[in-house]
Amino acid sequence: MGPRARTAIGFAAAALLAATGAAFLPGTASAGTTLGASATEKGRYFGTAVAASRLSDGAYTTILNREFNSVTPENEMKIDATEPQQGQFSYGAAEQIVNHARSRGMSVRGHTLAWHSQQPGWMQNMSGSALRQAMLNHVTQVATHFRGQIVTWDVVNEAFADGSSGARRDSNLQRTGNDWIEAAFRAARAADPGAKLCYNDYNTDNWTQAKTQAVYNMVRDFKSRGVPIDCVGFQSHFNNDSPYVSNYRTTLSSFAALGVDVQVTELDIQGASATTYRSVVEDCLAVARCNGITVWGIRDSDSWRASQTPLLFNSSGQKKAAYDAVLAALNNGTTPTNPPTTTPPTTTPPPTDPPSGSCTATLQDSTRWGDRFNSQVTVSGASSWTVVVSVTPPQKVSATWNGSPSWDGSGNVMTMRSNGSGNVFGFTTMANGNWTRPVVQSCTAS
Ligand code: G3I
Repeated sequence: MGPRARTAIGFAAAALLAATGAAFLPGTASAGTTLGASATEKGRYFGTAVAASRLSDGAYTTILNREFNSVTPENEMKIDATEPQQGQFSYGAAEQIVNHARSRGMSVRGHTLAWHSQQPGWMQNMSGSALRQAMLNHVTQVATHFRGQIVTWDVVNEAFADGSSGARRDSNLQRTGNDWIEAAFRAARAADPGAKLCYNDYNTDNWTQAKTQAVYNMVRDFKSRGVPIDCVGFQSHFNNDSPYVSNYRTTLSSFAALGVDVQVTELDIQGASATTYRSVVEDCLAVARCNGITVWGIRDSDSWRASQTPLLFNSSGQKKAAYDAVLAALNNGTTPTNPPTTTPPTTTPPPTDPPSGSCTATLQDSTRWGDRFNSQVTVSGASSWTVVVSVTPPQKVSATWNGSPSWDGSGNVMTMRSNGSGNVFGFTTMANGNWTRPVVQSCTAS
């Protein structure tokens, strides 16, 4: 690793620490031996869902405190927990988790301010403008109460329908008007301007599915209209009916290219395949704006799907093969065992194109070897495009994929045109001793 790359990683880690307030003191955790410390070395966090009722279980807290540097209250910040009676707020269990985490340097992800599910009875029975006001008041009160203690809020959870419709999920909140989501984000921003604000959902992992595209279009619309959204959470509950797919990395990078952070927020995998866990980690590490992974529980016995044994620790608290795979992936970064050259992502262009002439191209670091490195460029805003990328002499581009390249006379400026392979292209650069990151010079829609 060159000094520039080391500096970049160090800076990213320092920035994350500054943002999260997390601190890793010498002797408290060793880089390379725990999930949290290893993720931090890559400028990410590694978190888990936590249940307040388990904090009295010593075996549970031993693993929590050793391995994780971010926590998400599993149920304690939901609407039924925090506002059981209208206007009467109850924060005890949530504060127990927040205090446990923050006193140990862990950051907290707030989950969730507005959701069709786990509503208290009084809210379930409301509709129309009264419900809209009650929802906004809930967002304001809870975000204000925890202001300064929550790094990221899941502001709205699971607002899109499953299946092929690409429609919003029907719910009492949706029936208050299509703008309920943006109204919730604006209320959250006003209440806690320092928190990152996320939209969070499941079955949004597969880039080709209608639900994924629908959320993508909403985020693109929000960004274009200035609705305050900072990030998108991918729950990533993988199972036999909803398996991990190889275009997951394309999904993460495509959303990131909209100008939001992306996070894996509720990861569990039926059967806990070590290979699949490793792929998820490698996909996140390959996307610069994928800044954290949270697993949805610690031991299998803590899981909402315990019978699927989907987590990293068995019910006795022992590390499973999946744990070893995750730790190795965090320590190695993206590995040459899964280079993009052998698995080019398949993509579907965004359904709607913006005005002719405008597009955005975002370059991300990918696999790195001793003499060369891969880069991935994600184009948003056009399905037909021309992107100009330059490399620094004596670097030379030695391979490309998912586009039609041409070069200027110097061989240092590559013009890549879309060739129907989607909106993510990649290339390999021979470093020749220079590890400077290539630069996107322009993106033109055609
Ligand atoms: O605490 C009570 C207990 O007193 C009672 O005896 C028991 C009997 O029903 O219920 C217990 O509460 C349960 C609670 O989990 C705590 O264990 C609820 O019934 C149960 O519905 C609740 O399930 C939670 C589920 O959300 C509800 O939607 C899961 O723990 C939680 O893991 C799950 O988390 C969601 C995310 O928020 C959003 N994404 C999907 C994810 C999985 O469904």
